[in-house]
Amino acid sequence: RIAYLNGQYVPHGDAMVHIEDRGYQFSDGVYEVTLALGGRLLDEDRHLARLGRSLAALDIAPPLGEPALKVAMRKLVALNRLPDALLYQQVTRGVAPRGHAFPKRPVRPALVMTVRRFDPAAVAARQTQGAAVVTVPDLRWRRCDIKSVSLLGNVLAKQAASAAGAQEAWMVDTVGVTEGASTTAWIVTQGGEVVSRQLSQSLLPGVTRAVIADALAPLGVRFVERPFTVAEAQAAAEAFFTSTTSFVMPVTSIDGQTVADGRPGPVTRAIQAAHWAHVR
Ligand code: PDD
Repeated sequence: RIAYLNGQYVPHGDAMVHIEDRGYQFSDGVYEVTLALGGRLLDEDRHLARLGRSLAALDIAPPLGEPALKVAMRKLVALNRLPDALLYQQVTRGVAPRGHAFPKRPVRPALVMTVRRFDPAAVAARQTQGAAVVTVPDLRWRRCDIKSVSLLGNVLAKQAASAAGAQEAWMVDTVGVTEGASTTAWIVTQGGEVVSRQLSQSLLPGVTRAVIADALAPLGVRFVERPFTVAEAQAAAEAFFTSTTSFVMPVTSIDGQTVADGRPGPVTRAIQAAHWAHVR
């Protein structure tokens, strides 16, 4: 496997970052996860736009212009010869003597990219099963709209799910469910409306969320952006979560409570089909 490290294409095992990189010491950096399917980068412009917003929010200069970045992404995917791959991109502020405030001297941001195999067929298989979700308090900071590498809250949430034998954890604030540890949370009401929480600083603006939002009108489904509680989700007609790597995943139980009959519902399956059409 080949990794990208600050302009170089190097064997994955040899790609090293300095111990004084601010990403390592302060989580002072951002990331993106994008799929390359058959060599095509799915929703690339949306991912790069979000990367640009995350960088701007932290006042980190983009290490490469967008055209050069796109070239590097393609080259890395091609070098690794994977038909379908998950591309991880991370930009940290760079290497400087430890100190909380931004370094006074200019530092070069560190851009790291890795790819690994991704199997769409495995996602399709999981989609027929659906996923169990547990809920946890949302312990994260208040700028969850920035895709920062500061992910301890998400890590602890996902670990709680894993320990409970569930696939995802939905995080809950004083208003309701914010999002999953690494996914966007959705329900379908008994009236057939599709609900996801409105964008704010409390959650990540998911690329898949935007893709699904665009797909709903042609399906004749109404999209309502508002908060929902755990109790409402447990009593909903259907529930699902979305992300770049899990696509549209039906939720079959929440905190052990079966959602409807515990099988992927018709609205979720219609949205899945629309999403597959977008992916292929
Ligand atoms: N996770 N919410 C959170 C907290 C996420 O980390 C993600 C993505 C999403 C869904 O966003 P998108 O549809 O753009 O993938 C929502 C990525 C895949 C990850 O961390 O691996």
